[in-house]
Amino acid sequence: MEQQTVPHLLLIPFPALGHISPMIKLAELLYQAGFHITFLNTPHNYDRHLRFTDLQSRFTSSPRFRFQTISDGLPPDHPRSVQLIRDIFFSTQLVTKPLLRDLLLSFPQDLPVTGIIADGIMTFAIDVAQDLGIPIFIFRTCSACAFWAYRCIPKLIEAGDLPFEDHDDMDRPINSVPGMETLLRRRDLPSICRMKDLENPVFQFFVNETLNTARASGLILNTFDDLEGPILSHIGSHFPQLYSIGPIHTLLKTRQGDTPPSVASNGGLWEEGGNCLAWLESKPFKSVLYVSFGSIVSVTRDELLELWYGLVNSGKPFLWVIRKDLIARKEGEEGEIPAELEGGTKERGCVVGWAPQEEVLAHPAVGGFLTHSGWNSTLESIIAGVPMICWPQLSDQPINSRFVSEVWRNGIDMKDRCDRVTVEKMVRDLMVDQREELEKAADKMADLARKCVREGGSSYCNFERLLEDIRSTMS
Ligand code: UDX
Repeated sequence: MEQQTVPHLLLIPFPALGHISPMIKLAELLYQAGFHITFLNTPHNYDRHLRFTDLQSRFTSSPRFRFQTISDGLPPDHPRSVQLIRDIFFSTQLVTKPLLRDLLLSFPQDLPVTGIIADGIMTFAIDVAQDLGIPIFIFRTCSACAFWAYRCIPKLIEAGDLPFEDHDDMDRPINSVPGMETLLRRRDLPSICRMKDLENPVFQFFVNETLNTARASGLILNTFDDLEGPILSHIGSHFPQLYSIGPIHTLLKTRQGDTPPSVASNGGLWEEGGNCLAWLESKPFKSVLYVSFGSIVSVTRDELLELWYGLVNSGKPFLWVIRKDLIARKEGEEGEIPAELEGGTKERGCVVGWAPQEEVLAHPAVGGFLTHSGWNSTLESIIAGVPMICWPQLSDQPINSRFVSEVWRNGIDMKDRCDRVTVEKMVRDLMVDQREELEKAADKMADLARKCVREGGSSYCNFERLLEDIRSTMS
């Protein structure tokens, strides 16, 4: 009698928290749906995140979920900082790609990998998968609007919108991205579009990774139809097998029902510092501004001080995540929190090294979020109905913040400015002067987000379709 093959998925995230975190939630959704899962992580991430080990031990009772490591191709002492993250783009293509092939061939015959889900900037996995005859789906962790802008870069070049120089007018309208004709300015494009040299390997990397996606069996996006429907229609005309299943963290909670989550809210990767939830308990309803710039962005010492003066001068209480690597070190500089800030936050501010962000955003005392507009943070804010001040820095963040301020209208955009007067004004606008209209828009969006992950909602149904399609590609 022929032995039935066990459906076994290999998930390959890009090795940075903003990518690992939604991928691990997708892994858990697929695990719940009955698949065997192998989740790949790099030794670097595996070793440095204590809680990740916890996460593994929670799954040891299940033979259906296992973690495995693969090298990102960089030496152990490489800093893997935001400034040098480009090294990972190229080392994974060169070193990880052949390792992935070896790994796939090494699985036991009774449990071969029957399908792959790889990050949208790890598309070398498509070559390997297709060579070995394994179906592969791509999960791109950015917004649909950013993905579509990347996909339209050849059009931008053709229209003469790219390249531009630093001294050019950054407010000049961009009309060559279909569906965003009256919306974008140069400054709103994904940050690689600020590169003057279009032959730059990083620029080419993003263009090619986006185009490569079309070779996979399907494209998964962490967004929802009521948020980015018109843009998803444009993407769908190039990528017919498109699955918008976000916000993934909420879809996971909804489908889990009363089962306690196996995955911590931040993907289980970092220790949370300080008892900021207790601090929030003492604050009035919607009075606190939460300030956090994700897991990788860094700021200069001057920017940090301008932000701090702006926050303090606004008179509003704030909870600020200052990671130990948040401050960009200049040569000879310590990169430590400036002394004036340490002393001065005592009255109104609470500073922590890392926070349980989803819980913070859901806390009744939080009334606003000063964010770098990373896509996970944006979705977490949307689901919590918290209006945002956006201070985007890189990659998809500039276009995300444009959509927040001009399309969804649940926040305001501080792009390319960081002086104490602007920060103070933005905080007052968010927390006082424009509060009513911003909250109304944020509440509406939160409602739509919650509906789409419920049974019968668009993300719920798209996830069911994804399950069916993954199973059918395996049969
Ligand atoms: C990166 C990019 O910056 C982002 O634009 C892209 O869409 C994904 O990869 P990152 O910069 O880390 O991610 O930002 P973001 O996408 O917002 O992800 C940060 C995650 O860390 C969020 O899930 C957030 O909840 C979590 N976090 C952040 C915490 O749990 N605690 C914190 O204190 C700060």
